[in-house]
Amino acid sequence: MCGIIGYIGGKQAAPVLIDGLKRMEYRGYDSAGIALINDDGKVDLRKRKGRVSVMASEIEADRFPAHMGIGHTRWATHGGVTDANAHPHTSSCGRFIMVHNGIIENYENMRSFLAGKGYTFSSETDSEALVNLISYHYDERTVDGAADRFMESVRKALLHVEGTYGIAVISPLYPNEIIVARKGSPLLIGIGNGERLVASDVSGFAGRAQNVIYLEDGQLACVKKDFCDIITNGKQEVECVIKEIDWELETAELGSYRHFMQKEIFEQRKAIENAIRGRISDDMSTAILSGLNMSANELRQIDRILFCACGTAWHACLVAEYLIEKYARIPVEVEYASEFRYSNPPLDKNTLVFVISQSGETIDTLEALREAKRKGFKTLAITNVVGSTIARESDGGLYQYSGKEVGVASTKAFTSQIVICLLIALYFGRMRDLSFSDGREIVEAIKSLPDLIDETLKQAPKVEQIAKKYAKYPDFLFLGRLEEYPIALEGALKLKEISYIHAEGYPAAEMKHGPIALVCPECPTVIFANSGEIFHKVISNAKEIGARNGPVIMITDSPESIDEGLADDIIAIPKSHSSVRTVLSTIPIQMLAYYIAVARGCDVDKPRNLAKSVTVE
Ligand code: M6R
Repeated sequence: MCGIIGYIGGKQAAPVLIDGLKRMEYRGYDSAGIALINDDGKVDLRKRKGRVSVMASEIEADRFPAHMGIGHTRWATHGGVTDANAHPHTSSCGRFIMVHNGIIENYENMRSFLAGKGYTFSSETDSEALVNLISYHYDERTVDGAADRFMESVRKALLHVEGTYGIAVISPLYPNEIIVARKGSPLLIGIGNGERLVASDVSGFAGRAQNVIYLEDGQLACVKKDFCDIITNGKQEVECVIKEIDWELETAELGSYRHFMQKEIFEQRKAIENAIRGRISDDMSTAILSGLNMSANELRQIDRILFCACGTAWHACLVAEYLIEKYARIPVEVEYASEFRYSNPPLDKNTLVFVISQSGETIDTLEALREAKRKGFKTLAITNVVGSTIARESDGGLYQYSGKEVGVASTKAFTSQIVICLLIALYFGRMRDLSFSDGREIVEAIKSLPDLIDETLKQAPKVEQIAKKYAKYPDFLFLGRLEEYPIALEGALKLKEISYIHAEGYPAAEMKHGPIALVCPECPTVIFANSGEIFHKVISNAKEIGARNGPVIMITDSPESIDEGLADDIIAIPKSHSSVRTVLSTIPIQMLAYYIAVARGCDVDKPRNLAKSVTVE
């Protein structure tokens, strides 16, 4: 989603801003722009629809000398993808220039108020209303004469905003400062040597800052090259909390891989090893989850667990439901984070609320967390991004340590989330009815996973062949039962996201109640048929598809038990304990989606319309 960058210091700002924008390209965007203020107060502004490189090619030609400026990658919400709607936006008087992430819900009222005062607009965006409102407040007598008149105008304008924002504002009248503020959209201040950066994501700092200040909701900062002042929107001073940036966690290079998604699929061994490191008890029978910040006594009081998340992370919650109910016998409910906030479901008092979010910035998930906190529930988070808003605002939780995930399609983060949920199931289970030997069996299964992942990844050449065969098909069905039902949903989501093929996931047996109408020679079905009590039931479902001339792609740990002719294509995964099998079942569907997207010539890491971190509702 939109990316913000800002720089003030001794270096030439334009290359720093462009580099920062390029580092944040993975977030997803459709246009880019920068605004620079030269030492003599002259403003240079360039913005273009399309990639950062399109806009940057004009900058290189001009070689701007400015030492401060702001930049933006826009993910369109209000108004189409045009040069005029791209950020930065300038107030009609030309004195204020702003980049904005988020949505200003009452922008129409603002626009008509400002239009009545003679302000004009050159874009269809909500953001342009805000930068003009800042200009309006600058001219008001209430801020006139204040030493911090610029910041005060921004603060006053923001008091009228309904909605969310992360903003950076500059003005040729104040060439030595950038005003930033946030409510709902992330905003970070990077501290370098005699220079400051602002960004919506640590990666925007591109190794230039060693320390970071995470602005909290309702805070504004005046950023200068060697210090910054932070206040609340109620004008209270705020002490700066400076954190060190772990660049090892924040950096991702493509290396010899063609795409980040491919790289991240192949990094799953390492990601899982990181997820379990230090989290297994010495007697190898349970998990150690000190990050939950809850005593054994508190945890024993839990009667119910609610999981909230979006997209792929929501699928991880569904797997968690199966695992926790099976091993810990605690009832689990799973809600879309976006629905939970407004549906206001009744919750028992001994409910524990978990949210899962790779980025830790998804606004729907963050708001679900806040809603649960507001109601007084203990809220825990599973996130990958250290220091993210969700990680900071939850009462406790578990970091995934999957390493940076750049590909918009989540892969290694998903399997890590599953493994962490299994650790939770094991932990709660061992506090209740799960025996020592059952606990040890699960621990052994978890420890065997890295090798089994490597073995599964060896299927890549075969999956690539299958992908080429089906790359032109217009529809896919994904079917799985029990804990493989969420993996069927995930398979359909992955394929949709990066190859733009229509796909649906269903519980295998549910197929007969409607989706079977889709089955035909042009609609392949990917079906999970793994050993266990429902193996033969799934085989029957596969036969029903074959009888209707639907191509069957079977993912199975028992290829030896599949009758000749039952499946058109078989992808074998290694045999494993049922507690960890979803991890292995996931890998072929990730590879299938990846290779199909490549075969179709799609931009795998930057799929159309999608954003890595969804920071608007
Ligand atoms: O960062 P989060 O885990 O909160 O993101 C949630 C979803 O936006 C995300 O999983 C999305 O569905 C991915 N593009 C899936 O590949």
